[in-house]
Amino acid sequence: MNRLRHDGPLIVGAGLAGLSAALEAARAGAQVLVVTPEPLLNACSSAWAQGGMAAALTAVDSAELHARDTEAAGAGLVQPDVARTLTGVGRQTVEWLAALGAPFDRDADGGFVVSLEAAHSTPRVARVGGDGAGRAILSAVVAAVRAEKRIQVWDDARLKALAQDADGRVVGAVIARGPHAKRIEIAATAVVLATGGAGGLFAATTTPSALKGEGMALAALAGADLLDPEFVQFHPTAIDVGLDPAPLATEALRGEGARLVDGQGRFLLGAEDDADLKPRDVVARAVHAARMGGRGAYLDARAAIGDEFPHAFPAVFAACMRAGLDPRQSPIPVMAACHYYMGGIAADADGRTSVPGLYAVGECAATGVHGANRLASNSLLEACAFGRRAGQAAAGEIGGGRSLPAQGAPDLPEPAMAELRAAMTAHAGVVRTAEGLAALIALIDRLQAEYGPAAPLLAARLIAQAALDRRESRGGHYRADYPQTAARAEHTRVRLARPAAMEAAE
Ligand code: SIN
Repeated sequence: MNRLRHDGPLIVGAGLAGLSAALEAARAGAQVLVVTPEPLLNACSSAWAQGGMAAALTAVDSAELHARDTEAAGAGLVQPDVARTLTGVGRQTVEWLAALGAPFDRDADGGFVVSLEAAHSTPRVARVGGDGAGRAILSAVVAAVRAEKRIQVWDDARLKALAQDADGRVVGAVIARGPHAKRIEIAATAVVLATGGAGGLFAATTTPSALKGEGMALAALAGADLLDPEFVQFHPTAIDVGLDPAPLATEALRGEGARLVDGQGRFLLGAEDDADLKPRDVVARAVHAARMGGRGAYLDARAAIGDEFPHAFPAVFAACMRAGLDPRQSPIPVMAACHYYMGGIAADADGRTSVPGLYAVGECAATGVHGANRLASNSLLEACAFGRRAGQAAAGEIGGGRSLPAQGAPDLPEPAMAELRAAMTAHAGVVRTAEGLAALIALIDRLQAEYGPAAPLLAARLIAQAALDRRESRGGHYRADYPQTAARAEHTRVRLARPAAMEAAE
C-alpha cells in the first residue's frame, strides 16, 4: 500500500457539508485534501435537493420559531440547544451562500422568496429557480472551492478504512483511488467524514444509491459513538416511474396546493387546506397504505399548478416528462421512499465525534438537530452551517501518533446488495414489525457469512437492530406492532467495543 502524509485535514465527501468544511478550513489557513468517489456535483444528495434551505428570513418569522418547529417535528428527541445554535445562524448561512454566488430566488424588493413545506408554521424555505436549490447552491460552493489554492480535490477516491494510532485517535484514512482502486493510506491531522446518508441501502430511495451508510459503519468500527441509527425519513412523494433512484416530487408542490389522491380520485389526507402538509411520516404512511391497499397514490398538481408547472418546478417537470408523464395533464404516481438518514455518527455542532481526530458532518452525522424526524429543508442548513464550524475546528488539529495497520471492510457484490436493499425497504421501511426486522437481521447474518463483514451490511445491521429494539413508534420509525409513542423519549446510543469492532473487520 502507498503512503502519503498530508499536513492538514482530510475531508471525505464533497456534498454541501464536506465542501463547506473544506472552504472554512482553508480560509483558517489549513491545507485541505478532499476525497470523493465522483466528480464534484455528481452523486451527492445536496445537489439533488429541490426544496431549498430553511431559515428565518421573513418579518413574521424568527430563529426561535424555527427552532420550535424543528423540535416539534423531531418528536421529543431534538436537542434544544443544538437546534437553536442552528436556527440562530439561518439567515447568516443563506447570506454567506448568496455572497458566494448562490442565486436564491428574490422578490421585487430583493428579499428572499420562501416556500412553505410540511410542519413549518410559516413559509421559510429559501429556494432557487423553483426546485433547483441543491444544485445551484452547491455549484456556487464548488466554484469557491475550485478557486481556493489551499484545497486539493481527488474525485476518484473511495474511503475504505480509518487509520488510528495506538491511543485510538484517528490519524488518517485508507482510500481506494482510480480505475484500479489503488490503496493509499493518507496520514492527516484530522479526518472529517461527510460521506452522506444511507439511502442506497434501500431499494426505494430518492438519494444517490452509492450512499450506503459506509461512513457510519467505518466510524463505528473505529469505536465512534452512534446516535439513533433506527431513524430514517421516508419521503411520501417519490415519483414512481420505475427508476432507481426515484426522482423526487418536492413537498413545495403540496405547499402550492397540489393534492394527494388515490386511484379513485379521493383526497388521501382529507379536504382541509393544509391536510397534505401534515408531518412527513404521517403523509408517507398514508401513501404507503393506499398503495398496499391497491388504491394507488398520486400527486395531482393539475388544478393548483397546471400550466405553471414547467416554469415553477422545472426539475420535477423534466423528470416527469422524461418518464413520459405530463403533470399538467395527469396526476403523478408516487410512493414513499427513503429520503434522509437522521441517525448516524454522534457529533456536536462542530462535528466532533467521540473519537479524537474524527469529525462528522452532514447526513452521516447525528448532531441532535433532527431527532426522530427532520424538519423539511433543515438538512442543507445543517450541512452548510455545521460543515463550516467543523472546518474551522478541524483546521486547528495537529494530528497524532503513528497509525496501526488499518482495518478495512470487504465489498458486497451487486446481487447481494440488491437482496439487501429489497429487504431493507420491505422490513426497515415505512412500516416495521418485529417479525420483519428479525427476518432482515437473519438475511444480514447470511450475507455476512457468505461475503464477510461488508460496510453496508454493518450499516444495515445497526439500523435493523436499533429498529427492533425500539418498541414504540416515534417520528420516522413506525412499528405496526408497537404503534404508540412512549411517554418518555429516549435516544438509542451504540458503541461497538473496539475488540469487537476489530473482530467484525477481520
Ligand atoms: C422536498 O423538497 O420535498 C424535500 C425537502 C427536504 O427533504 O428537506
